[in-house]
Amino acid sequence: MTDNDSQFQENWFEHNIPQWREWLGAFAGRAGLRALEIGSFEGRSTRWLCGNILTAPDAHIDCVDFFAVDPVYGDYHARFRKNTAAYQDKISEYAGPSFEMLRQLEGPYDIVYIDGWHSAFGALSDGVMTWPLLNVGGVMIFDDYLWLPPKLGKVAKPSGLSRRLTKLRGGDWRREALQRRIDSVAVDTPKLGVDHLLDTLRGYHEVIGSQYQLAVRKTRGFDQGQVGHDT
Ligand SMILES: C[S@@+](CC[C@H](N)C(=O)[O-])C[C@H]1O[C@@H](n2cnc3c(N)ncnc32)[C@H](O)[C@@H]1O
Repeated sequence: MTDNDSQFQENWFEHNIPQWREWLGAFAGRAGLRALEIGSFEGRSTRWLCGNILTAPDAHIDCVDFFAVDPVYGDYHARFRKNTAAYQDKISEYAGPSFEMLRQLEGPYDIVYIDGWHSAFGALSDGVMTWPLLNVGGVMIFDDYLWLPPKLGKVAKPSGLSRRLTKLRGGDWRREALQRRIDSVAVDTPKLGVDHLLDTLRGYHEVIGSQYQLAVRKTRGFDQGQVGHDT
C-alpha cells in the first residue's frame, strides 16, 4: 500500500524514519519480536513498524489509543484500520486511556513507543507502566520530548550579544531558549515526565538518541528479589 491509496490526514511520523532505522534496525526481521505503541492515531508509525521492523511472520504489535471519533480529527480509527489493513494479523488494538489499557498488557516487549498524552504526567505514567514490560536490550522511544504547545508560538531569537555569550560558555542558545519555554509550561509537555522517569532509572538504561524524540535502551532489569527490598 502506498500513500496514494492510504488515508492519512496528518504526517507526524515520517521525519523520524532515519533515526528509527538507526535505533531499531537491528531488530528487523527478528522472530517473535513484540512491540507496544501508545498513541497509534491513523497508523503511520504502526504501519512503518509492521512493514520495516516487525517483518517476521510471528512479530506482533499491541496498539493503545482511544480509537474514538475525535472532534478535530474525526474517525481516525477507521483510517487506522484502512492504513494498517495489510498487517491486521500482526496488530492487536486496545481502545481506551493508556493508564487503563496498560494494566491488561503483559509484555515482554522489545520496542515501546510512547506517543499518547503529551503532558508530563502522561509521559511519566506511560513510561512507568511500560518499563517493567520492556526486555533488557529493548528500546523505548518517547515522541515529542521537546514539544511545546502551539499556543506558545515560536521560540524568540535572543540578541546577537546574548547568543555570543552563550556560545562562549559552551552553550547552545536554541536548546537553552527551548528549555526555558518548556520550563514555563512544564506540566503541559512530556520532557519533565521523561527526565524524571530516567532519573529514577539511572544505571538501568542508556540514552541512544536525544533530539526532538528521545530513545533509550534498557541495559539492566531489576535483580531477582530486588523489587520491594530496600538496600
Ligand atoms: C500524535 S498522535 C499519534 C501519532 C501516531 N503515532 C502517528 O505516527 O501518526 C497521539 C495519539 O495518542 C492518543 N492518545 C492521547 N492521549 C492518550 C491516552 N491517555 N491514552 C491512549 N491514547 C492517547 C490520541 O488519541 C492520538 O491518536
